[in-house]
Amino acid sequence: MVLVLALALIGALPVALAALAESASPFAGSTSTAAFPPPDVTATLYDSYFPDESQVGFPGATPTGAEPEAIATAPAASLNFDTYPVIVPSSQYTTSGPAFNPMYHWGNLGPWYSVGGAFGLPNTSPQIPDGCELEQVHLLFRHGARYPTAGEAPSVLAAALHKVAQTTGFTASGPLEFLNTWTYTLGQELLTPFGREQPFQLGVGFRVKYGRLLDKFTSIPVFRTTSMDMRSVQIEWWLRCKSNFAAGFFGIPQYLTSYHEEIIIEATGYNNTLAPYDTCTDSNNGVGGTIGDYASGNWTQIYLKKTTERLQQYLTGFTLTPDYVYAMQALCSYETVSLGYSQFCGLFTEEEWRGFEYSIDLSFWYGQGPGNPNAAARGVGYVQELLARLTKTPLTTFDTTLNSTLDGNSITFPLDQPIYADATHDVVIATIITALNFTSMAAGGPLPWDHIPVDHTYHVQHFAAYASNLVGQVVSCPASTDSIKETFIRFLLNDGAVPLTGIAHCEAENEDGLCPLANFIEGLKERVAEIDFDYDCYGNYTIPTPDTIVNGRMI
Ligand SMILES: *[C@@H]1O[C@H](CO)[C@@H](O)[C@H](O)[C@H]1NC(C)=O
Ligand SMILES: *[C@@H]1O[C@H](CO)[C@@H](O)[C@H](O)[C@H]1NC(C)=O
Ligand SMILES: *[C@@H]1O[C@H](CO)[C@@H](O)[C@H](O)[C@H]1NC(C)=O
Ligand SMILES: *[C@@H]1O[C@H](CO)[C@@H](O)[C@H](O)[C@H]1NC(C)=O
Ligand SMILES: *[C@@H]1O[C@H](CO)[C@@H](O)[C@H](O)[C@H]1NC(C)=O
Repeated sequence: MVLVLALALIGALPVALAALAESASPFAGSTSTAAFPPPDVTATLYDSYFPDESQVGFPGATPTGAEPEAIATAPAASLNFDTYPVIVPSSQYTTSGPAFNPMYHWGNLGPWYSVGGAFGLPNTSPQIPDGCELEQVHLLFRHGARYPTAGEAPSVLAAALHKVAQTTGFTASGPLEFLNTWTYTLGQELLTPFGREQPFQLGVGFRVKYGRLLDKFTSIPVFRTTSMDMRSVQIEWWLRCKSNFAAGFFGIPQYLTSYHEEIIIEATGYNNTLAPYDTCTDSNNGVGGTIGDYASGNWTQIYLKKTTERLQQYLTGFTLTPDYVYAMQALCSYETVSLGYSQFCGLFTEEEWRGFEYSIDLSFWYGQGPGNPNAAARGVGYVQELLARLTKTPLTTFDTTLNSTLDGNSITFPLDQPIYADATHDVVIATIITALNFTSMAAGGPLPWDHIPVDHTYHVQHFAAYASNLVGQVVSCPASTDSIKETFIRFLLNDGAVPLTGIAHCEAENEDGLCPLANFIEGLKERVAEIDFDYDCYGNYTIPTPDTIVNGRMI
């Protein structure tokens, strides 16, 4: 009897090995959450034992130093490749060529980093070009790393695994063995600890680079952000998001009194240039709101087909699909930026990470970018605000996503600031750079749904990663022909200079990305005029098949 069994084992070796592997615990895939401080703790209980600094006194010397302006005075630009303290899961990819870092292929789900010449201008740096002086800076940035949003793939996979673990059971072995005891420990929507650090660090960096512009302020700065949808319990996320940047920029506790934070309501039906989808109906419906998901969904079935088969070998009792495997890739990034490390990262090859990256590129190109019929319309409100700030001209027409109450008032929308700072979302940066006609990113043309093109120019991790930042530098430089100073503007997106050659009157190539400010303003006004907000956001149109749009407008 024993002998027969042994023979049977040899005959079906892989199955037998799987059978020897440990089965999943009933808690596998379950969700665990915790709250700190514990809800029943009274934070004020011992306050009298811990007097604050005004009560303690003895503050020591307090003179502050002059404002720094490293962007103009340092011999070289400081760049950001720092992901401390989360672990870069790259060691396994170093067999040939430069080390492959999957973290730089997570699209909007990875941390921002300096992208160098990614947009086509490799011979410049964030440093103010020689002979130029900094006049003004416009910052638009994304919040730091967050937990998944409601209903995202990772929690769907966890729930499915948990259901099976509690009923018929599953068995994971080999590289998937950890799934037997894996639980889902991510929160929802909130910034992760690393995600709180990112905007703080951005704020400190911004002070060191641009602090001297504070000397030119004649009033308290207004920086802007969005509330979250009021129905969401996570409004706190945004309060923290704003203060992390400001806390870094102004210091703690000075940030509490150093500026006004304007929190623009983000909810359906409210006008908000930093959350424009709320007033652009066609970005949320079948007319123009589904094509991004379709494109990325179709590609996922293709690039993860073989991967799904490969990983299925290590799992019995649970049937994998490309969507579940996609959730594992997303879990690698979410767990890394939340917990500092993820066992899911080691499951995938370099090629599979490039596939993941491309799925996000497709989702943004067709959903939020050049291939979407209302992306430019969604971004145009911020562009109108930018024009108002650059020309110091009050806004008087409110027929896009502008809010006349806020944008039409010089207290809530000042026009005399040397520094502007607005906080927003990944998808909003994507629509704004489409409205700005940054055409170098669209140079490769429409993205195919079934393969990664060789001339691929649209990489989401270059502009919408966590804490991504778009910086408009207004500088005055000696004009090329004589010694009269002329004003120029250029844009750095995650430290990479963007060619402005797609904007009328800025066509002349400039290796630093500079365009004379007057020309830029003229070109941008033409761009605003060519965007038909009403039609693109409210029209009943059909996107061409295949989708050949490259300019973010329904033509
Ligand atoms: C405009 O902003 C004000 C101030 O937050 C708000 O009360 C008003 O409801 C907003 N209007 C729209 C249409 O968003
Ligand atoms: C693939 O695209 C079609 C539209 O062309 C869509 O109906 C379908 O749902 C997409 N498939 C996936 C898996 O997203
Ligand atoms: C909000 O936007 C709509 C559409 O552009 C516009 O008709 C309306 O006047 C705006 N409301 C405010 C308060 O600006
Ligand atoms: C924006 O870019 C498109 C090319 O995609 C071009 O046809 C159009 O003229 C540009 N608009 C302006 C105002 O420069
Ligand atoms: C939009 O147009 C399609 C046909 O092109 C039609 O079936 C649909 O009813 C229209 N929707 C609305 C809201 O008018």
